[in-house]
Amino acid sequence: MAEGGPKKLWGGRFAASTERLAEAFNNSLEFDRRLWREDLEGSRAHARMLARQGILGAEEAQAILAGLDRIEEEIESGVFPWRDEYEDVHMNIEARLTELVGEVGGKLHTARSRNDQVATDLRLWLRRALVGLVEAQQKLARVLVAEAERHLEPPVILPGYTHLQRAQPVLLSHWFMAYYEMLSRDTTRLLDALFRMDESPLGAAALAGTSFPIDRHYTAGLLGFLEPMRNSLDAVGSRDFALEALSTIAIGQLTLSRLAEELVLYSSFEFGFVTLPDAFATGSSIMPQKKNPDIPELVRAKAGRLLGDLVALMSVVKGLPLAYNKDLQEDKEPLFDAVDAYRASLELMAAMLPGLEWHPETMKRAAAGGFALATDLADYLARKGLPFRQAHEVVGRLVRYLQEAGRELESLSLEELRTFSDLFDEDALALLSVEGSVASRNVYGGTAPEQVRARIAEAKEELEEDAP
Ligand code: ARG
Repeated sequence: MAEGGPKKLWGGRFAASTERLAEAFNNSLEFDRRLWREDLEGSRAHARMLARQGILGAEEAQAILAGLDRIEEEIESGVFPWRDEYEDVHMNIEARLTELVGEVGGKLHTARSRNDQVATDLRLWLRRALVGLVEAQQKLARVLVAEAERHLEPPVILPGYTHLQRAQPVLLSHWFMAYYEMLSRDTTRLLDALFRMDESPLGAAALAGTSFPIDRHYTAGLLGFLEPMRNSLDAVGSRDFALEALSTIAIGQLTLSRLAEELVLYSSFEFGFVTLPDAFATGSSIMPQKKNPDIPELVRAKAGRLLGDLVALMSVVKGLPLAYNKDLQEDKEPLFDAVDAYRASLELMAAMLPGLEWHPETMKRAAAGGFALATDLADYLARKGLPFRQAHEVVGRLVRYLQEAGRELESLSLEELRTFSDLFDEDALALLSVEGSVASRNVYGGTAPEQVRARIAEAKEELEEDAP
């Protein structure tokens, strides 16, 4: 079959008969071809074990291993004859093996079933994929920390929001670091999933184990698994490892979708805080003034799609009797889809963030406006001994007074302030600057530059330790 792989036949239109439709419906080659490398890995380990246990002769095993090497070369160079009549990647490889090495090829499947084979392949594939995702997460983590550091001096100030109403000014660096914290947790969740999936189903055979004297600990070791799975029914029938991976990936994509959404908002004309690099946005075909944030929008949308992947596989597994059921063939597409989308989103975000052009003046103006500094005045009065509830009320009156006059807090003089409370002194005026407001939140985890700088230093050390 050509590089594009076999055509998807079960669209119905292409099926000459219901028999052909059934055959095509059953066929998984189009997507499970992706497991070929892991299928070879699993087969090599199995063949070596069979020889070691005296189940295969040494020469037989040699012939099989040589055939598997040939197959690897054929697949890599694109000349492997993928054929629809062998319904999946496992049967394609086994059929080709027998063509290449003769009848002895058929001995590879001794003491094995496609049920433990596919469970093993998928775990091997997923393990590799998750390691790749963790690496991509770390790349993005480094970018977030670098961006946080870059905007610390001079400090770039962003309005912080609650309910999407301007609430209190924060450092842009603090905002970047919030995403760093979320992403770090997404990484530990993936590592947890990796740890739990690190056991080998190989040797469970169809569902009950095998009467051949195999050594499952040996194959588990060869494949780099911590240990063999302890129960053969569980080994071939469970997909919670895939569900766990999908859940953590979906959560990870949710993190990215929130970051993406903020960029969509902040790059709009209404906010005007940031301009996206051209490569990550497109112009409108009819409205010359527009620059559409396509990439962030798609990252945002993929979160919905990945939730769909997760729900799809959960629904497949729900209520399935033990052990293997063909339903489980449907585990792969959602998993592949989610891994691909998350991987691409991580890479695109990492590439995009350093190219963002922030507009500090606009951001600062927004941060100062909308009475974002009102809490600081209330805190001031509370520090002077006024109960916070009363302080809140005094400042509330002050804000209404200014709103009616169409004025902002910065325009207040000390005399005016004192008409609302004689607790106000000269130093209260300093609070009416966003810099002063930010600097005053000097508590662990707060947005004061001192705190953020300390956290950035720590994060750099964390990333140093994790460096591959
Ligand atoms: N293509 C199948 C899958 O992906 C392989 C296992 C088939 N096993 C079986 N007993 N039909 O699940």
